[in-house]
Amino acid sequence: MRLAGKSAIITGAGSGVGRASALRFAAEGARVLVADVQKDWAAETVRLVKESGGEAIAQHCDVTVEEDVASTVAAAVEHFGRLDIMFNNAGVTGAKTGATFEDSTGEDWLRLTGINFGGVFHGCKHAVIRFKAQGDGGVIVNTGSVAGMVGFGSVVYGATKGAVNQMTKGLAIECAPFDIRVNAICPSAMPLTNFFMLDPDQPFSAPPDAMLESTSALQPLGRYITAEDCAAAAVFLASDEARNITGVLLPVDGGYVAA
Ligand SMILES: NC(=O)c1ccc[n+]([C@@H]2O[C@H](COP(=O)([O-])OP(=O)(O)OC[C@H]3O[C@@H](n4cnc5c(N)ncnc54)[C@H](O)[C@@H]3O)[C@@H](O)[C@H]2O)c1
Repeated sequence: MRLAGKSAIITGAGSGVGRASALRFAAEGARVLVADVQKDWAAETVRLVKESGGEAIAQHCDVTVEEDVASTVAAAVEHFGRLDIMFNNAGVTGAKTGATFEDSTGEDWLRLTGINFGGVFHGCKHAVIRFKAQGDGGVIVNTGSVAGMVGFGSVVYGATKGAVNQMTKGLAIECAPFDIRVNAICPSAMPLTNFFMLDPDQPFSAPPDAMLESTSALQPLGRYITAEDCAAAAVFLASDEARNITGVLLPVDGGYVAA
């Protein structure tokens, strides 16, 4: 019960890393606000959390819309009395089969920037406002990516994740005097989340074995990364066990960036 009594918001919690984290955070004793632009997916995550004996509520939230994020923080405070942990996890891929950098359109750039960077900006901003009002610290975990640490295909996506990684470090320094910790998890390839689906608005369907093998081969450890691997890293960073850890970009990558 490493998060016993804590109040947490997880964005993008209708699927993948966010859903796995909602389940894990709740199992560790947190009360979880499940935020997602897909209302039905958020509701299903809440059902799964409750089924396993945890406490959660669902909230429709488009992280590109600042008012939505502010309302999400307000909803967590209204239901749980306070906010302790903000996990800014929502993000989308820019990968299109066979596409090169110059194929990226203005629409692609705005979408990726708006969700992956803008969403984390809004989440950090409204969490910091709340944490400072409470006056006793707080924890932010962002989902960056190895694509923001090394040169990688899907260039615009990688740039948005580089921005998330950099904002994590800068904010950690600025907020340290308030005991607000800010860290990021940086996953490598997770073929079993919705992220790899060509149409991210469709529910998940299992990828072919060939994709599991090719994504496994990317990591020196030889295994693809799972949403549960990320949830475990996020729980640690969100917990008091990480009380002296801030400004860290934690690869969850089977050694990918070390290679
Ligand atoms: N899957 C990978 O290979 C991989 C690798 C590195 C980093 N990541 C990052 O991990 C995070 C989680 O992705 P995932 O793999 O679980 O994918 P996923 O597609 O399964 O989950 C993403 C969730 O974010 C939600 N979302 C999308 N746009 C949103 C918006 N505007 N507002 C609120 N919610 C929104 C989706 O509805 C979905 O529930 C993302 O930030 C992603 O960039 C994924």
